Amino acid sequence: MFSLEGRNALVTGAAGGLGSAIVEALAGAGANVAVTDLDEASAASTARAAAARFDQRAFRAIRCDVTDEASVRAAFSAAEEALGPIDTLVNVAGTFHAVRFEDMSFAAWRALLACHLDGTFLCTRQALPGMLARGFGRIVCTSSVAAAGGVAYEVAYGAAKGGIDGLVRSLAREVGGRGVTVNAIAPGYFDTPVNVAKPPEEKTLLTRNIPVGRFGKPAEVGALAVYLASDEAAYTTGQIISPNGAFTYGSADLESR
Ligand SMILES: NC(=O)c1ccc[n+]([C@@H]2O[C@H](COP(=O)([O-])OP(=O)(O)OC[C@H]3O[C@@H](n4cnc5c(N)ncnc54)[C@H](O)[C@@H]3O)[C@@H](O)[C@H]2O)c1
Repeated sequence: MFSLEGRNALVTGAAGGLGSAIVEALAGAGANVAVTDLDEASAASTARAAAARFDQRAFRAIRCDVTDEASVRAAFSAAEEALGPIDTLVNVAGTFHAVRFEDMSFAAWRALLACHLDGTFLCTRQALPGMLARGFGRIVCTSSVAAAGGVAYEVAYGAAKGGIDGLVRSLAREVGGRGVTVNAIAPGYFDTPVNVAKPPEEKTLLTRNIPVGRFGKPAEVGALAVYLASDEAAYTTGQIISPNGAFTYGSADLESR
């Protein structure tokens, strides 16, 4: 079950903490992977690491700025030229910006939405026509517990992730009868660079709100991505699935910031 043998995936933000774990997981399940990121050097080292571990697969590192329509188009062309038609898209690229709402500039608001929401739109729109023409596709987006739960000081982030949830639910209904599934993974807190760098007191407060008692491991998101990309997940669509250790926001963690 859950074999991705012969499948071609494109991952955005693939050099990051969750993106690189998703690349590893997809590759481990048998997929060829286009490793795309704004940071081309880091994408290349992620692709090299995957190639060293899974030498029977094809990997291609490609620079892609998900906020730029031309860059997205070029990245998909390069990926399809190297691997063949892309049947699986995993939208992971993201940025974080914590600020009091009254201090948030319009430029910062727009930049956050551009990366998460416009980026998800542009990549999904680029991938979809080929998937519909072939009658098969898997689109996996990345939301966050910040969308359903809300998170203080990250209002633009919560708004962008809420927008992704809406995109997923609506697009899944639009293409549900044509072989393409659209879902989102909404992680809680994971051991990725952005969280590893948090002050210890903040991590302790957050962990108190996680009944499982720890931050998640990136490979736990990778495993979910493999499931959502698999043939077996054909009936799972329009869903926002949240690996989060039963996390809910408390209030002390937010007051501390
Ligand atoms: N880490 C967590 O605990 C957590 C929790 C909930 C949601 N998420 C979401 O998961 C995703 C990945 O998070 P992460 O922790 O791996 O972050 P990360 O910062 O480690 O990785 C993000 C990657 O996106 C890339 N990127 C940034 N802007 C880009 C752009 N314009 N075009 C293409 N690539 C771009 C960065 O270069 C980086 O490699 C994000 O969407 C984030 O919002 C993460």
